[in-house]
Amino acid sequence: MTSKASKRATPFVAETVKKDFPILQQEVNGQPLVYLDSAASTQKPNAVIDAISNYYRTTHSNVHRGAHTLSERATEAFEQARQCVADFLGCSDAAEVLWTRGTTESVNLVAHSWGRHFLQAGDKILVSTLEHHSNIVPWQLIAELTGAQLVPVPLDEHRDIDLEAMQALLDNNVKLIAVAHVSNALGNVNPIDKIVELAKSVGALTFVDGAQALAHYPVDVNAMGCDFYAFSGHKLFGPTGIGVLWGRRELLEAMPPFLAGGEMIETVSFAGTTFNELPFKFEAGTPDIAGAIGLAAAIEYLQQFDRREIVAHEAALLTSVYEKAEAFVGINSWSKIRNSAGIFSFNLEGTHPADVGTLLDQQGIAVRTGHHCTQPLMAYLNVPGTVRASFSIYNTLHDVDRLFAALEKAKLFLL
Ligand code: ALA
Repeated sequence: MTSKASKRATPFVAETVKKDFPILQQEVNGQPLVYLDSAASTQKPNAVIDAISNYYRTTHSNVHRGAHTLSERATEAFEQARQCVADFLGCSDAAEVLWTRGTTESVNLVAHSWGRHFLQAGDKILVSTLEHHSNIVPWQLIAELTGAQLVPVPLDEHRDIDLEAMQALLDNNVKLIAVAHVSNALGNVNPIDKIVELAKSVGALTFVDGAQALAHYPVDVNAMGCDFYAFSGHKLFGPTGIGVLWGRRELLEAMPPFLAGGEMIETVSFAGTTFNELPFKFEAGTPDIAGAIGLAAAIEYLQQFDRREIVAHEAALLTSVYEKAEAFVGINSWSKIRNSAGIFSFNLEGTHPADVGTLLDQQGIAVRTGHHCTQPLMAYLNVPGTVRASFSIYNTLHDVDRLFAALEKAKLFLL
């Protein structure tokens, strides 16, 4: 693995970046593909596809178990991948980086391990109204089990988390605030620093769902001050089935194991079991070795660029989106140029989002439609769902033009 410091940044040019993603070089329904569904899953560059393929061709074996060279090589690559994630998150202790299957499993890990052990009747968990179901339902289940209460924090008139309302809900019974760094449905970048400050004022922990953030912004978990940060590889140009939970060492040390099995133990007897040290205590069974190596390759791919150039590029894309939306008669945008990471969520007046999605697909444009796994948010907006166009490093201004030209056609067809 190459160190961040030793590499000069590759100039960021979206048209060139697009060429690194083989899947984007195809036609869909007779049109060059415009992929605007990166919030659901990003595409994979050759560097990631090759890293996984090379791993299976040259290195694969089980990790932390074998007495042979391949196992040593696989273990080294696997643990280097963990170190790569730790560096990426600004974390000095790689043992705080746990492999999971994705953000959803990371939330469940904390809910079941920390929640079941530390929550009791009368305690409260705060979540915002715009959370993904995966940052609501695990807490709901654990609240039912422990007698704790799940309390939603409302949004303000700008559809941002209402920090005053959050503050008013705080008391010494609040033990955790669980919040998305970036809303998957609307793109809001939530003020995590302020939320962490509020949580700390009553001694509560913060769990941050970073699934939608890292492909857009660099994150330093220590500077952020949160207690847990979770993300999925597949939304960061890496493979599906691999994700990360970062947690503060003292919390992870105090938490009991989540899943039990091989490798998470120190000793086992029928009289009882003692557990392995971090991070292995939370990694039962053979891990997704190729996934971890693929994720590290994705991070290295991203880190060849100056992240500020990516932020500027995505801001330029969204500026163009909002200029065009402003001029487009009949669009209701739920996202805001002022506070959005790569996401444009909208409805076409008088149409159903699913119909719009189908007509866009027929023109080679991939978007997601529906409730985006945020039914409480949709209920708050009073819509059955939205059309969500989500942008990433490989999208260009031409893609924005294609989206709006296709929307004009869809509107003509539907209205
Ligand atoms: N959570 C992903 C999305 O927002 C799947 O589409």
